[in-house]
Amino acid sequence: MKVISTKGWSDYGLLDSGNGLRLERFGKFVISKPDPQAIWNQSLAKSQWEAADAKFQNDTWIKKSDFPQNWHVNYKELKFLAKLTPFKHTGIFPEQSLNWDFIEEKINNQKSINNSKPYILNLFAYTGIASLVAAANGAKVTHVDASKPSIAWAKENQTLSNLLDKPIRYILDDAIEFCAREIRRGDKYDGIIMDPPVYGHGPNGELWDFNKSFPILLDHCSKLLSDKPLFVIANAYAVSASAIMLKNLFEDYFPKGNLEYGELALEQESTRLLSTGIISRLSFI
Ligand SMILES: C[S@@+](CC[C@H](N)C(=O)[O-])C[C@H]1O[C@@H](n2cnc3c(N)ncnc32)[C@H](O)[C@@H]1O
Repeated sequence: MKVISTKGWSDYGLLDSGNGLRLERFGKFVISKPDPQAIWNQSLAKSQWEAADAKFQNDTWIKKSDFPQNWHVNYKELKFLAKLTPFKHTGIFPEQSLNWDFIEEKINNQKSINNSKPYILNLFAYTGIASLVAAANGAKVTHVDASKPSIAWAKENQTLSNLLDKPIRYILDDAIEFCAREIRRGDKYDGIIMDPPVYGHGPNGELWDFNKSFPILLDHCSKLLSDKPLFVIANAYAVSASAIMLKNLFEDYFPKGNLEYGELALEQESTRLLSTGIISRLSFI
């Protein structure tokens, strides 16, 4: 079991955490928001926390007067939109940069063997940064999410990143329903990405309850994996389970490969780590 962590990148940094909060820089803006597990002491001075451009307090954002509706954040050649959402999110899960690099590496490993374009399935794909990374590296991507606003946001990010010529198929659907239909169609994918919430709903009210639904989804995904797979990635957050749960499930459903599992974490500018969830990654190349 390992901790897979990132220091961030030029447009993202975890500045501090503690007292139930995290302080982050997204592009040129600094925001503070709750993080229930950050019960340790803060490292930075109170004044630095108070200087944040936006703070999520009592279920709402307190913003400086000139704080924009949305702003751009870059990651390598990609450019995407950050916005303050009512659910204290920004449209970017920075720890996912660890998976963006992994996806890029696996697709390029394949490219060095043969030039075929891998088929990548991105489930619970949200604002689609992982879809952009895969498409920018030559994959044919199927992007599935249950939320119309999230799909619209993902399309904005594709435009902003100048990747409109890249094959990304957007599907508004429930992850399990979609995968069941793909099995009936006989479709296969070389790479599968899953980042499910604990609870969620499909567009027709299909209930997603992690502990009940996730094993079903893995069973479907095991039937969708091609015979020359690249990878399978699953992470989960806010589930009261250890990464060993993911490891055991992957061993139940997927063929042998290089399996790594553990925690995803953000590295603060001091030595401290902030865990953001659990992960299991299986690679075959
Ligand atoms: C936390 S986000 C995933 C973040 C994403 N991996 C990323 O890095 O940008 C969870 C997403 O799951 C979607 N979702 C929730 N229930 C779903 C379901 N039953 N089927 C498909 N998508 C669902 C939500 O709309 C949301 O966009």
